[in-house]
Amino acid sequence: MEELLIRGGRPLSGEVRVQGAKNSVLPILAASLLVNGTVTLQRCPRLRDVETSIKILRELGCSAAWDGDSLNVDASSFRDCTISDTLMREMRSSVVFLGAILARCGRAVCGMPGGCELGPRPIDLHLSGLRAMGADIREYGGTLCCDGCRLCGRDIVLPTPSVGATENLMLAACGGDGVTVLRNAAREPEIVDLAGFLNACGGDVRGAGSGTIAVTGRPALHGCAYPVMPDRIVAATYLCAAASAGGEIFLRDAEARRLDAALAVLRESGCQVTPDARGIRFRAAPRLRAVGPVRTAPYPGFPTDAQAVLMAALLRAEGATVFEENLFENRYRHVAELRRMGADIRVFGRVAVVNGTASLHGAAVECTDLRGGAALCVAALAADGETRVGTLRHIDRGYEDIARDLSGLGGDVERLPRDTGNCTGDMLWQRATATGEADVSGTAGDVTASAGPTFGENPGPSGARAAPDGAADAFTPNGGTSPVWPPR
Ligand code: UD1
Repeated sequence: MEELLIRGGRPLSGEVRVQGAKNSVLPILAASLLVNGTVTLQRCPRLRDVETSIKILRELGCSAAWDGDSLNVDASSFRDCTISDTLMREMRSSVVFLGAILARCGRAVCGMPGGCELGPRPIDLHLSGLRAMGADIREYGGTLCCDGCRLCGRDIVLPTPSVGATENLMLAACGGDGVTVLRNAAREPEIVDLAGFLNACGGDVRGAGSGTIAVTGRPALHGCAYPVMPDRIVAATYLCAAASAGGEIFLRDAEARRLDAALAVLRESGCQVTPDARGIRFRAAPRLRAVGPVRTAPYPGFPTDAQAVLMAALLRAEGATVFEENLFENRYRHVAELRRMGADIRVFGRVAVVNGTASLHGAAVECTDLRGGAALCVAALAADGETRVGTLRHIDRGYEDIARDLSGLGGDVERLPRDTGNCTGDMLWQRATATGEADVSGTAGDVTASAGPTFGENPGPSGARAAPDGAADAFTPNGGTSPVWPPR
């Protein structure tokens, strides 16, 4: 087990190159199943989720091999159409392989994708769209089975512009017969990148980036070399890191046109953002100002994936900022960890109110999910003293090497083996309760033994060990009324 040791208080400076986009490369790897020949994905990020996709491809009989920062995939030896339950559970977005497998061989067997740290994430839109195209998908005890189908083009209206469902149906349509029209499709840049890849392989996908996408099925696609787009959420994370710590940085390859909503908020907070052809130059405000309500929404709205890192950047801003999370039910789990660092945040269902504080302090914290984990790093860069960030497997799903990148920007960030010898009893107890490692009956091993107190007695150094925000029950995705929260 490893952790990040972050010593806060240093302004950032320098330049870093933004990695390829996780949310682009995952559906592109699934799309490579439709190709006869070799696909070379350039700027392919080395991530835990990419490794899981590689395992899925190999399980299906395909080959995948790294060559520097390119990944070569050859699906000509595709022979199986079953994805094991273990791999389906490891990564929720493995469901995007379903459309491609069905298009390639007319049958598929896979588990339901695993539970998710962001709350329930149904796949009903994926399944109803595939069924509309002719797939006979049945569910037996958590396994999805589909046999002997030939996918046909259809006119499909998505009730909500789901990114994953749009991608799944694009892949199914590419390998099916006739023309499929997807209405109310997701418009995220990663959809455009997927379409760019399919078209580079000889596919016929039109309208990606708008709400209506038309896909004409093609019997077989050919290989190509394709550069994966830069990761806009990683770019947003490092901009927020600089906003939080102060300083001036240059993000090479960051694409401002795909970050409009996030850049507008950072400018509103007083930072200077100067895009050019090579990337984005960014200068932090000496003290950030709170910004108008930040409401997450499908693209081109403010991205839900950047909510946590922006929140972390605004913890010391002047004034109060209201966040409204409209996509996922359980997307404030980082709040309890940020409070350990002295943050003043209150959560009311889908709304979180951040009151800027003068300072933050280092603490022992645990990643609760991918972007929530990145948010802890953003806050730690601005905190006085040392922060130890544990449970890094979440961050590793989406950041190639966050310690390398933040140190490259002048941050004092090290990745170390987890050394419980460096921890105080409070830190150990916080970690054990946050990760569920603690046996509160007091019969567990080292961690509990040295930590001592029974659950509930020790609120931690900041006195802010919060219960999970139960008000999240009131959440209604994409609709309903916001719960009332105290007016500012
Ligand atoms: C993708 C991204 C994720 C991002 C999200 C929203 C990938 C690998 N992940 O996730 O990082 O946070 O888009 O931008 O690209 N929904 C349903 N039924 C479905 C599918 C979705 O009700 O069948 C709902 C979800 O619960 C959620 C909303 O639609 O409330 C949006 O989800 P969706 O766009 O599908 O997100 P993902 O594709 O899972």
